[in-house]
Amino acid sequence: MELMNLLLKRRSVRNYTGDPVPREKLEAILEAGLSSASGRNRKPWELVVMSDRDILEKLSHCRTGAARMLEKAGCAILVFADPEKTHVWTEDCSMVMSNMHLMAASLGLGSCWIQGRLRFAENGESTEGFCRRLLGVPEEYALEAILSVGIPAAVPEPHKPEELKKDKVHWESWKSKTPQQATGHQTCSAAELRGI
Ligand SMILES: Cc1cc2nc3c(=O)[nH]c(=O)nc-3n(C[C@H](O)[C@H](O)[C@H](O)COP(=O)(O)O)c2cc1C
Repeated sequence: MELMNLLLKRRSVRNYTGDPVPREKLEAILEAGLSSASGRNRKPWELVVMSDRDILEKLSHCRTGAARMLEKAGCAILVFADPEKTHVWTEDCSMVMSNMHLMAASLGLGSCWIQGRLRFAENGESTEGFCRRLLGVPEEYALEAILSVGIPAAVPEPHKPEELKKDKVHWESWKSKTPQQATGHQTCSAAELRGI
């Protein structure tokens, strides 16, 4: 599939049939994650794959409301990292999450990012502490996020190219919202820059 089509097709899918994810597709998703770029190539991540139905049900309480889809997911992939390895572990783990999410879409699976860092479980504990305790993950590992993965029961419509907010792009200077508006650079001079 051409990359832009895949990027538009990718949606957060939260409704699954409850069927397992075929092993070869799961391994392809994990390989996509493991192939991610990372700052100074530190690769600080550790991935935990969970497909046990009882534990997925327990995991669905790791957030207030935002992780219920895990009850019917085929599996969850939890992305942890050792923050001692690099200051940019959150960015590194986001790359892993994004690559796995895209690979799932390319394989016709549904997946959804469940935020773990800075979030709380239904019992009031941090999502990170809850997941570490449930899965026996050592204290030194921080949780970035969880990817729920499953056979889609319902798939949202792909995004349309015309929905893209092109005015988020500033061409050559902050004020120019289209390439046509970018008539001249409105930046400061080298002398002004030295004074900043
Ligand atoms: C950093 C981040 C955190 C997110 N956290 C959650 C979450 O905890 N639960 C959830 O259901 N969706 C979560 N999402 C999915 C977003 O809600 C979703 O990407 C957004 O609504 C746009 O929809 P789309 O992915 O279908 O384009 C998260 C996405 C990102 C990138």
